[in-house]
Amino acid sequence: MTTTGKPRVFSGIQPSGELHIGNWLGAVRTWATQVAEQNEELIFCIVDAHAITTEYDPAELRARIDGMARDLIACGLDPAKCTLFVQSDVREHTELAGYLANVTPLGDLHRMTQFKEKSAGKEHVLVGLFTYPVLMAADILLYKATVVPVGDDQLQHLELARETVRRFNYRFGEIFPEPQPRVSQASRILGLDGQGKMSKSKGNTIALFEEHEAFWNKLRGAFTDPQRMRRSDPGRPEICNIYTMHKALSSPEQVTLTHEECTTAKRGCVDCKKILMESFDRELVPLRLKRAELDAQPELVKQALGDGAEKARRIATETMREVRAAMGLGGK
Ligand code: AMP
Ligand code: TRP
Repeated sequence: MTTTGKPRVFSGIQPSGELHIGNWLGAVRTWATQVAEQNEELIFCIVDAHAITTEYDPAELRARIDGMARDLIACGLDPAKCTLFVQSDVREHTELAGYLANVTPLGDLHRMTQFKEKSAGKEHVLVGLFTYPVLMAADILLYKATVVPVGDDQLQHLELARETVRRFNYRFGEIFPEPQPRVSQASRILGLDGQGKMSKSKGNTIALFEEHEAFWNKLRGAFTDPQRMRRSDPGRPEICNIYTMHKALSSPEQVTLTHEECTTAKRGCVDCKKILMESFDRELVPLRLKRAELDAQPELVKQALGDGAEKARRIATETMREVRAAMGLGGK
């Protein structure tokens, strides 16, 4: 239990260079709601050590971390109301990952679909990519988080983290609680090309802070129901990405109407997207203003990340003291 008596929530996001509408709808937007509600103790981490598992440019990574911090604060992760920090600023993450590697069977990591996808057909695969889920388990366990809000692509990693808790506790005593996943309603936003999930690495995204015109041009071209060849063909909302986004963003009345007008071919896809664009604008206009303000205050963001790391470190230090003692490590 936390000192505040509130459940502790932890989640992480990679500094991939751009927050897109997929990870916003699937994750960050719900985190912001939780921050506004203040019913839980919330810890959010920019997981830079997870972003070095494939070739990258150090200067670029640095810039992406700062950019992601601004994006997240602009989206409502107010550093005064949650703990927002950069993973590598708290060394205990990699320390715990090193120890947890010794309760993690090789076979479990071989089964991870994300590893299989990212390593498929590649000759040059790094150990860090393979052990990625161990570091992710360490992130969560370090804070003894009980709730982990993520998109559905991370559920397998979370199951491994739960398994790690069971194995660790069985061998060394009850130190960690089992973290539960919390999946948002829009847990899987497809890419603009309709080919699998929206993801920066697939180049099928709309960046959240893209200019209005560019945003609309991309949304207008987005894949919908392939059966709707002509305007008069009825559509299938349940398989349409645009409808998934309506459900997350538009009013309940609009969602019902969208379903009806799509299935009866009363509304065409472009009109449907125009209405969705209005729903996006309603939420994004204030976020864009906030983002522009933050661009002008780099010191403020730096300070916030420094304070966040300090808050996180306080918890991490305490957990590692317990872990070392339980494992029989360390002499002093
Ligand atoms: P990442 O940007 O991959 O670090 O993911 C950050 C968070 O966004 C994680 O909780 C992911 O599960 C979630 N996420 C990423 N891409 C999508 C998507 N296309 N749809 C829904 N959620 C997503
Ligand atoms: N692997 C997650 C992703 O790519 C990011 C992440 C790292 C994470 N550590 C975490 C998410 C801990 C939740 C909890 O989306």
